[in-house]
Amino acid sequence: MLKQTLLYTGKAKSVYETDSADHLILVFRDDASAFNGEKIEQLDRKGKVNNRFNAFIMEKLAEAGIETHFEKLLSPTEVLVKKLQMIPVECVMRNYAAGSLCRRLGIEEGKELVPPTFELFFKDDALGDPMVNESQAISLGWATEEQLAQMKDLTQKVNVVLKDLFAKGGMLLVDFKLEFGVFHDRIVLGDEFSPDGCRLWDKETKKKLDKDRFRQGLGGVVEAYEEVAARIGVDLSDI
Ligand code: ADP
Ligand code: TMP
Repeated sequence: MLKQTLLYTGKAKSVYETDSADHLILVFRDDASAFNGEKIEQLDRKGKVNNRFNAFIMEKLAEAGIETHFEKLLSPTEVLVKKLQMIPVECVMRNYAAGSLCRRLGIEEGKELVPPTFELFFKDDALGDPMVNESQAISLGWATEEQLAQMKDLTQKVNVVLKDLFAKGGMLLVDFKLEFGVFHDRIVLGDEFSPDGCRLWDKETKKKLDKDRFRQGLGGVVEAYEEVAARIGVDLSDI
C-alpha cells in the first residue's frame, strides 16, 4: 500500500491517503497535547510505543469479535487502517470517577461507578469537545439512534475485554475514550486505544500510568506507557 497525500494533521497522529480508496495510513507522532492544545510537548518514543500498543489492543478486540479498522503495522510509527467515515462523537466509559466527571459533579476521584457510566462528547477542538447527549447527536445528524446504540454496545464490550486484560496486569481501567466510524454501512472501531486516551492506575498503589502523568506534570510519561505495555505482554523489544 502506497502512502500518498497528507489528508490531516491531528494533535498526535497524521493521516495519509493511500492508493486504496478503502484504506488510510496513520502515523503516530511523538507529540503530546493536553488542555485542548494549550500544553504541547514532544515525548521521545511515544509515537512508536503507542503504535505498537494500539495494534496489540486492536488485535485483542478483534479476537473478542469487535470489528476494528486495524489492518497491519507498516513500520514502528505507521499503521494501515480501513478508511472510516468518522462519527464526530467520542464515547467515554468510566469505571471509576476521574477527570472531567469529578470536576463537573464534585465527586471524589476513585469512586467506583456501578454500573460504569457512558458519556458522549462532540469532537470539536474549537469548542473544547463539549459533552452532548444522544438526542442532540441524533438531531444534529451526527449519528442515527441505531448507530449510537451500536456504539454504546461496542463500548461496553470493549470495557469488558479490556478491564479484564488490564486487571491481569495488576491495573484498574479507570476510564477510556473510543471513536467509531462507518465502513460500508457497518459501525467499526477507529482511531486508537493507548494510554493517551484512557486512565490506568496500579491496582494497589493507585499510581497513574497514563496521560494524566503528562496533564499533571508528574514526569515519566512514556516510561509509564512502557510499564503498562510490559504488564500486559506488548513486545516493544525491537523499537
Ligand atoms: P485529533 O484529531 O483529535 O487531533 P489525532 O491526532 O489522533 O486526533 O488524529 C487522528 C485523526 O484521524 C482523528 O481526527 C481521528 O478521528 C481520525 N481517524 C482515526 N482513525 C480513522 C480511520 N480509520 N478513518 C478515518 N479517520 C480516522
Ligand atoms: P475526561 O475525564 O477528560 O472527560 O476524559 C475521560 C477519558 O476519555 C480519559 O481517559 C481521557 C479520554 N478522552 C480523550 O482521550 N480525549 C477526549 O477528547 C476526551 C473528552 C476524553
